[in-house]
Amino acid sequence: MRANGGQIRTCRAVRGARAATLAAADSPGIDSAPMTTPPAVDLRSDTITRPTPAMRRAIAGAAVGDDVFGDDPTVLALEQRCAQLTGKEAALFVTSGTMGNQLAVNALTTPGDEVLLEAESHIFLYEQGGIAANSGCLAHIVRGARGVLAPEALAGALRAEDDHAARLTLVCAENTHNRAGGAIVPLERLRALHELARSRGVRMHLDGARLWNASVASGVPVPAWSACADTVMLSFSKGLGAPVGSILAGPADVVRRARRVRKRWGGGMRQAGILAAACLHALDHHVERLADDHARARTLADGLRECPGVTVAAPETNIVIAELAPPLEVEAVLESLQARGVRMVAFGPRRIRAIAHLDVDDDGIARAIEAFRGAVEALAEGPGR
Ligand SMILES: Cc1ncc(COP(=O)(O)O)c(C=O)c1O
Repeated sequence: MRANGGQIRTCRAVRGARAATLAAADSPGIDSAPMTTPPAVDLRSDTITRPTPAMRRAIAGAAVGDDVFGDDPTVLALEQRCAQLTGKEAALFVTSGTMGNQLAVNALTTPGDEVLLEAESHIFLYEQGGIAANSGCLAHIVRGARGVLAPEALAGALRAEDDHAARLTLVCAENTHNRAGGAIVPLERLRALHELARSRGVRMHLDGARLWNASVASGVPVPAWSACADTVMLSFSKGLGAPVGSILAGPADVVRRARRVRKRWGGGMRQAGILAAACLHALDHHVERLADDHARARTLADGLRECPGVTVAAPETNIVIAELAPPLEVEAVLESLQARGVRMVAFGPRRIRAIAHLDVDDDGIARAIEAFRGAVEALAEGPGR
């Protein structure tokens, strides 16, 4: 991994380039397109990023066609590039990470099947029971250490063929793991899980909404991760800064099935090249710079850890989780932060989450640390004292 200073310089260079392209714009209407004024420092998620001027130009210049007819050249280019990038036969552009995950479950199972999920996974916690509602599947949940599902968990969940029992046909992993604070699931653990799954006729899906972060932070390339699953979903609308879009990659027959179901669910898009262009731009310009976010997350964690009553583990990627000790209360800290121009989110009764991203620079991180310290100190003093 590059040295910290190098990472920060890279980000400054990106921001400098953004400013320069803005000044030299040949289509000022696009570059000065109205954006709502963001709060001072918004660390609620890496999904809040707004398209850069250069990304907006890529969107405006995109060649488009009707993608439901298979005519959109930019969507086709993105799908081909992502199939290659993940080492899979085919890829499908979808509106969201949730849709990519849900389509994977649908395409890899039949109603009544059981799906093994980590208890804190996005698919289990944050997709509205979609595997049951959309695909008639039953969730078999097992708690993993820092989001990691061990092969033993799969071995323990499998049952002998029996007409009374649901068939466990799919296991899903998540990397990086959101609720585990952006933890990277080690490659060898995923590989072992996948090998056991394959040997037992169970398919595997990887929720890689932030797989780019895992890849940049670990130096392990994306195809090595995606080889650990039949299907993989990656998002463009998180750290990569695109406004919309995720990709589902996998075997051609599975992606074909997902394409049909996407249409049934109303997810067939027409001139979607304007969205795919943003994703292609993000692939060209916003992957390596994720290292800047990781460096800033570490700086933020170091700063928050200094605050009395606050425990912060060292972040592995762009997510920082702060644990509060009584008398600090999550809602009170968040309110006080917001009053100081900084936004984070509740992530449990005593936990706050902050994510570093494209729209937050070094000054933003410094302001967030100062605001957090101010909030914690004011609340520790208590009212009227
Ligand atoms: C790990 C993970 N998977 C999937 C998703 C869903 O992505 P989307 O919000 O695009 O539906 C998220 C969203 O934050 C996520 O963190």
